[in-house]
Amino acid sequence: ERSELEARARAVKERFGRRLFIPGHHYQKDEVIQFADATGDSLQLAQLAAKNSEAEYIVFCGVHFMAETADILTSDDQTVILPDLRAGCSMADMADIFQVERAWAALIERFGETIVPLVYVNSTAAIKAFVGRHGGATVTSSNAKKMMAWAFSRNERIFFLPDQHLGRNTAYALGIRLDEMAVWDPHEETLQGADDLDKVKVILWKGHCSVHENFTVRQIEHIRRIKPGIHVIVHPECSWEVVQQADYAGSTKYIIETIRNAPPGTQWAIGTEMNLVNRLKHEHPDKEIVSLNPYMCPCLTMNRIDLPHFVWALESLEQGAIVNRITVPKDIAAEAKEALDRMLSLA
Ligand code: 13P
Ligand code: SF4
Repeated sequence: ERSELEARARAVKERFGRRLFIPGHHYQKDEVIQFADATGDSLQLAQLAAKNSEAEYIVFCGVHFMAETADILTSDDQTVILPDLRAGCSMADMADIFQVERAWAALIERFGETIVPLVYVNSTAAIKAFVGRHGGATVTSSNAKKMMAWAFSRNERIFFLPDQHLGRNTAYALGIRLDEMAVWDPHEETLQGADDLDKVKVILWKGHCSVHENFTVRQIEHIRRIKPGIHVIVHPECSWEVVQQADYAGSTKYIIETIRNAPPGTQWAIGTEMNLVNRLKHEHPDKEIVSLNPYMCPCLTMNRIDLPHFVWALESLEQGAIVNRITVPKDIAAEAKEALDRMLSLA
């Protein structure tokens, strides 16, 4: 069954040639990523979409916000397809545009016009548009530090959403103290965690990644006890405590490159999504690689892009039926593109 589906996917790819482009995020399953024309972290995938002007069809192996970004950065006659529409992101779902508008109004009332909004690409196009309209930019895990420094060169405070952990880790790395950060709770509509609001420089949205919250300091302590000398590398969507304890933290691209450049015989505990950890384990038999969380950590929504959905999307194209097209309304796309372009021009 699997080999038959693989043969069908290969056949469609061959027939379409360069009219079809398949980007794949590093968290995608092996059964799908084997067909990717390019793989990357979120920044690389956005850059690839912005650069590709020849593909008529982009079948995006990743999650919904990535496909939206690809649609925003490509031209109107290019079609972006997400093989399963249920492939969302639980973190992106933690912020909707109405909550963001209310938060912004409250923050401007409290702090005046002193705030630049920064939005992690793991967010809806509508929120990116809001940020673009208010002079802010998008960020990814590989350029968050640079983008925060940029935002501080423009104003006194940053409103960072929706991942509180990436925001806190990045601000801390830039020398902002924890007592200079506050957390906006979108349900309570209150600012939490700061004794003196006048000192606050970074306002974090109370959102997180449901995959990376499964890595803990106790796991790091445990793995170091049973494997002294092991290196711990995690994604910055992990909590501040975990990132502080880890030896290294960075985007999926950074994790891949660090493992690739590590000497043979070294031991690594990785705190990120399971498909990537398994792939690294397989590709580097000369190194000992384990997941920091022994129960592994799959991203359920990334995993919804499987071979049957992928083949279905490809074969529908051949039959002239476009399924699961992702289109961002023009007005939203234009403002979201401003936020993305500010990032891409700095990255
Ligand atoms: P990066 O690949 O940009 O590090 O992003 C990780 C992630 O969680 C994507 O949803
Ligand atoms: Fe979203 Fe986390 Fe899955 Fe990335 S790993 S798509 S941030 S839920």
